[in-house]
Amino acid sequence: MTGVRPDINAQSRDADLYARAERILRDNDRGGYTVPTKGLYPFQWNWDSCLTALGQRHFDEARAWTEIETLLAHQWADGMVPHIVFHEIDEGYFPGPGVWQCGGATPTSGITQPPVMGFVLQRLYAEARDQAAARTRALALVPKADAWHHWFYAHRDPRGSGLVAILHPWESGRDNSVDWDAALMRVPADGVAPYRRRDTEHVDAAERPTQAEYDRYLWLVQHFRGLGWNSAELHDASPFRVVDPGFNAILVRSDSALAELAEAIGLGDIAARARARVSRARAAFPALWNEDAGQYVCLDRVTGEQIDSRSIGGLLPAFAGLGDMDRLADTIAARRGHVAFGVPSHDPADVRFEKRRYWRGPVWLIVNQMLADGLRRHGRVEAADAIVADSMALIRRSGFAEYYDPTDGGALGGPHFTWTAAMVMELLVGKRG
Ligand code: DGY
Repeated sequence: MTGVRPDINAQSRDADLYARAERILRDNDRGGYTVPTKGLYPFQWNWDSCLTALGQRHFDEARAWTEIETLLAHQWADGMVPHIVFHEIDEGYFPGPGVWQCGGATPTSGITQPPVMGFVLQRLYAEARDQAAARTRALALVPKADAWHHWFYAHRDPRGSGLVAILHPWESGRDNSVDWDAALMRVPADGVAPYRRRDTEHVDAAERPTQAEYDRYLWLVQHFRGLGWNSAELHDASPFRVVDPGFNAILVRSDSALAELAEAIGLGDIAARARARVSRARAAFPALWNEDAGQYVCLDRVTGEQIDSRSIGGLLPAFAGLGDMDRLADTIAARRGHVAFGVPSHDPADVRFEKRRYWRGPVWLIVNQMLADGLRRHGRVEAADAIVADSMALIRRSGFAEYYDPTDGGALGGPHFTWTAAMVMELLVGKRG
C-alpha cells in the first residue's frame, strides 16, 4: 500500500467493495500499464487506461500518472494517440499488430479512441495529495494531450466545421452501436483476408458484435493500412465518417479541463488554444440536436444527414454541459424508466435494442459515471443520484463486469473488469458521479 486508505468504515459493505476493486486494479496491472481484463483484452487500451488512472489514484497516486505516461510514450509523431498499445505478444487477441502493420518498436493500432485523457489529467492534478509531484508530471503531459486534441481538429475536421469525425466504429469505443449500422453497411466486406475471431472464444457471441460487423471493421483497417496510415489522407478516403455527439462531448469536456489545468500550471498558450477549440465545438453542436428524439444524434458526414438512432452517445453531451440539460435529464430519466437498471446504451423502445449485445442496449458503468458527473456539475443532482444508485445496485448484484443487462442486471462481457473497478472507487472514495 502506498496511498491513503479511503474514508470508509472498515466493517461496511463498501469497504469490501473497495477492497475487491483495488484487487482487480492490482491483478490487471502489468507494470506501467493495466489490461482491461485478462484474456479478452491483453494489451493497453487508450480510454480504458485513462479511466483506470482515476481509480489507481485512490491507493497509489504515482502509479496513476504512470498509466498515462506509458500510453503517451506511444503517441505518434503527428499527435495521434493510438487506441491499443501492443506491449506484449499475445495470440489470444485479434486483430494483433500483424494486421495493423503500423510499425514502431512497440507496435500500436492505427486508430484512436474517445479522448477522456484531458478530463482525467485535470482531476489527477486538482485532487493530488502530492501537489509538487503532480505539477511536474502534468507539465510533461499537458503539451502531449494538447497535441492530440490539435490532431483531432486538423485531421478529423479538415473543413473546420468545429466537430470531429470518427473513421472506424472502434474509435467511438461503442463498437457496435446502432449509430453505425447504416454507415457501416456502406463499407464493403469483400477482399478481407481470412481471419479467426478471438473475442468470441472469451465471451458468448450473443454479447459481442456480429460477423457482418467484424468483416467491415477489418475492411476499414485494411483500407487505412493501404494508405500507409497517413492521417492527412484517411478522412476523405474513408467510406465511414461519422460525427458522434458522445465522442465530441468528451473532447469538449477534456479540452475545457485541459485549459483549466494548463492555466493552473502556467501553460497559458495551451490554455488559450484549448479554449478556442471549445468555443468552436460548442457553436457547432446544435447541428446534432434532434427535437423528436429529445437528444443529440450522430451526423453522417458522407451523406450530410442526421442518423436515426437514439443511443447513449447522444446523451453524453450532458458530460460537457452542452445544450438543454433539462431535456437531456428528462430523456435519461425516460430511458431508465423502461428498464430495471439504467442507463441503457440504446433506447429500449427501439426495435434495434438488444439487451445483451455489447453497445446495443447494455449498461456501462463508465458511461453512467460520465453522465452522473455532468448532471451533478450542472445542478441536476437528483438525476445524478439516480444514476449512481443504479450503478451501485448493479455492482452489488453482479460484481465487476464489463457491462450489464439493463433488464435483470446480469453480468455481461469480460469479468474482473478494470475500468468498472476504477469507477466503483470513484463512487466510494471520490464521491463522484
Ligand atoms: C475489441 O476488440 O472489442 C475492441 O473494442 C476494439 O478496440
